[in-house]
Amino acid sequence: MPPLLPEHVQADPVGALTAWVDEARASAQPQPTAMALATAGLDGRPSVRMVFLREWGATGVGWLTDGHSGKARDISERADVAGVLFWPGLGRQVRVEGTVRLMERREVNDLFARRRPETQAAAWAWYQGEPLDTRADLIRRLAAARADDLPPGAPPAWVGHRLEPRSIEFWQEDPDGLHDRLLARRSGTGWTVRRLAP
Ligand SMILES: Cc1cc2nc3c(=O)[nH]c(=O)nc-3n(C[C@H](O)[C@H](O)[C@H](O)COP(=O)(O)O)c2cc1C
Repeated sequence: MPPLLPEHVQADPVGALTAWVDEARASAQPQPTAMALATAGLDGRPSVRMVFLREWGATGVGWLTDGHSGKARDISERADVAGVLFWPGLGRQVRVEGTVRLMERREVNDLFARRRPETQAAAWAWYQGEPLDTRADLIRRLAAARADDLPPGAPPAWVGHRLEPRSIEFWQEDPDGLHDRLLARRSGTGWTVRRLAP
């Protein structure tokens, strides 16, 4: 991997993030769009979990989730979040921090329609995080959802979160330990990019 230089990210850090996700997909990295998402609600206690990015581009990165979930509750209380993507095969990490905005219903429906049919039915079968007595409950409810004529679009409770980055940090491994670490921070209408010791 060639060294990462500030000029690679200076003009358009969000574009550079998008390019890294695209490169991870193109080189068949495992789960190239999986991001660890950290949130904290009003109680200030952090929690973290994985999400699959459903979009990445000029406006930031986005994912879908159930509006009943812990992360949705946290984000409704405090929209500031942090995410990290890691591609071991490329020796690359990206950290993203910023504010989450809700996608429009139309956008949620469009992204939901691209999920595999099995996972679409599952979203109708239960609320994410609701307590269940047995695995048999899951199987029964999924079968019932599949037997139903499901309306088009996402379940009403499903939401799309779009993280608009305030800062993006790029980290690229170097075999001699001279890892590249570039931090891009929004400033006014542009960005400032600093090299940091790894
Ligand atoms: C690789 C991976 C991708 C995941 N993607 C999503 C996702 O896109 N949306 C989602 O709601 N949950 C996703 N999950 C499940 C979450 O990690 C988590 O278990 C669930 O959303 C409940 O989290 P919460 O109670 O903190 O909201 C994913 C899990 C893994 C391991």
